[in-house]
Amino acid sequence: MSFSYQIKSYNEYKEAYKKSVEDPEGFWADVAQNFYWRRKWDTVLKWNFKEPRVEWFAGGKLNITENCLDRHLEKLGDKPAIIWESNDPEEKPRVITYTRLHKRVCQFAQVLRNNGVKKGDRVCIYMGMIPELAYAVLACARIGAIHSVIFGGFSAQSIADRLEDAQAEFIITCDGAHRGAKEIPLKSVIDDALIGNKVVKRVIVYTRTRTPVSMLKGRDVWWEDEMRIVSEGLDVPQGINFGEVEIMDAEDPLFILYTSGSTGKPKGVVHTSGGYMVWTNYTFINVFQYQPGQIHFCTADIGWITGHSYILYGPLSAGATSLMFEGIPTWPDAGRFWDIIDKYKVNILYTAPTAIRSLMGFGLDPLKGKDLSSLKVLGTVGEPINEEAWHWYDEHIGKKKCPIVDTWWQTETGGTLISNLAGITPAKPSWATLPMPGVQPILVDESGKEVTEKDDQGMLKGNLCIKAPWPSILRTTYGDHERCRTNYFATYPDLYFTGDGALKNEEGFYRITGRVDDVLNVSGHRIGTAEVENAINMHAGVVESAVVGYPHDIKGQGIYAYVIFSGRHVDPELTKKDILATVTRIIGAIAKPDKIQFVSGLPKTRSGKIMRRILRKIAEGEISNLGDISTLLDPGVVDEIKNGKI
Ligand code: WT7
Repeated sequence: MSFSYQIKSYNEYKEAYKKSVEDPEGFWADVAQNFYWRRKWDTVLKWNFKEPRVEWFAGGKLNITENCLDRHLEKLGDKPAIIWESNDPEEKPRVITYTRLHKRVCQFAQVLRNNGVKKGDRVCIYMGMIPELAYAVLACARIGAIHSVIFGGFSAQSIADRLEDAQAEFIITCDGAHRGAKEIPLKSVIDDALIGNKVVKRVIVYTRTRTPVSMLKGRDVWWEDEMRIVSEGLDVPQGINFGEVEIMDAEDPLFILYTSGSTGKPKGVVHTSGGYMVWTNYTFINVFQYQPGQIHFCTADIGWITGHSYILYGPLSAGATSLMFEGIPTWPDAGRFWDIIDKYKVNILYTAPTAIRSLMGFGLDPLKGKDLSSLKVLGTVGEPINEEAWHWYDEHIGKKKCPIVDTWWQTETGGTLISNLAGITPAKPSWATLPMPGVQPILVDESGKEVTEKDDQGMLKGNLCIKAPWPSILRTTYGDHERCRTNYFATYPDLYFTGDGALKNEEGFYRITGRVDDVLNVSGHRIGTAEVENAINMHAGVVESAVVGYPHDIKGQGIYAYVIFSGRHVDPELTKKDILATVTRIIGAIAKPDKIQFVSGLPKTRSGKIMRRILRKIAEGEISNLGDISTLLDPGVVDEIKNGKI
């Protein structure tokens, strides 16, 4: 496969960008015709941001898995689609060719059909990073079921909330998952999530860890048994053809992925098939400058959008080899990524700044004797990268020979919106740089006016919005379209608001400065402060709490919680542990506060609003310059909080 739409020079980028803005329909029709459509679209784009309503390739019919699998079989059938590396370095790797992947996906699609899954049904997937997770996701897509993958670190309560919101009737899980030295009892967490649930009809369980699990009669079935029925041709209901794909409208939902916002409850971001396919493919090929035959290693978990777009759909739709890793970067030691790169001769490494910072902390020893010369392109995603980490990545991993792409995007954007193109457009440490073709960023002030006034360094600074839709913009938030409108399209009329702040320099490069809403980015994971507060407040002794972020050397941001506690308080350290246990139970360990400070009151305005600005400054250690506190109901509480800072 060669890609006619791969941008080959800075000039070509400029031309493509210009055309994408002047004639978006012509531009995207040219790209989209490189895919396999069962029926061509009637219109390329219809949209308004008021409702909002966005339709790409309306009238077009396709199945994304035919684009990720079937169309490659003839030429790339024997080529690895997925190379899987176990958590355990001693365990044999698994190499899944396109032919094999196609077969497994078709078989599991049939399993889903046998179990009553139909087009449009929601299927929740809660598995570790094993090839069967990829089969499960793609099998859903093959039959038009809407997958909703939940990261293995979320608690039973979080799963229960998501199941309820999605009204999911089906779950695919494992007995357990390996992550470093830990074993996560996935099925047991699912069992807890299902207490009282009346909607889920079927749970399919794959055996990974051989942890004992309870299998409920009539509800739970083993993956292996179900696959045997299909592969041995036993008992397949009549009239259903093996491997037959569901032909989807371009705008039919492909998946739901839950993500945190500034309110208490996570939102189910909905992506559809046509636009999402085109965008993940286009950005994969252009940002990483993917060359046929290369091995791409994205270290994200498929429980997050990065894994959806750049382990599965982007690379597979391009016929690439995607390396899937079950474990963690620091187990059994901090050289694990480098071992994997050496072992498989990885060409593209895509990881998070938090991982780079954490590995930097181990010094250069873990790199000794590791041959990283296969690397051609490096990428980062998920949070701003500090210059120190950028230079370490450049020097010690890329050996100053690999372009680094800093890709800015979000769950809601489906794929990368702002990034340099590897080796094609200029890189600038800690800058995401230029928008992809089709992406029209604009910086606005609080009132929504475009920022035009430059600071002394010639920079514009404002809230980052996007003026027009790109193919993989979210279409709705599941079950609540109004929530989608108010969250993303109502802050500034006729603009998509990202929730991020940004700078723009004289070259037109963007630098993302971080969230401007009450959303934290902890180790590249999105966590809403309101969500953490709700969880803390569930603890019986807690009266009220306020959560803010503070700079953290490795995680990027840490979680700082101010808690008013009225319960029995024999030992504050024990109470803290109880609160952490509560957060772990309600959300998951990823949301545990790094610091908890007990306070007798919170700084509030006369109207009762918590002044988070003050709490943030104290958590950041900026104690001397708190700004105006005269509007507070009880300014005295600020001194107490300052004195008790941890
Ligand atoms: C938020 C989105 C993108 C997939 C993984 C995270 C932050 C993301 C960058 C970057 C600076 C970044 C933003 C964004 N972010 N990439 N390259 N530079 N910040 O997806 O969980 O939806 O989080 O991550 O703040 O809004 P997500």
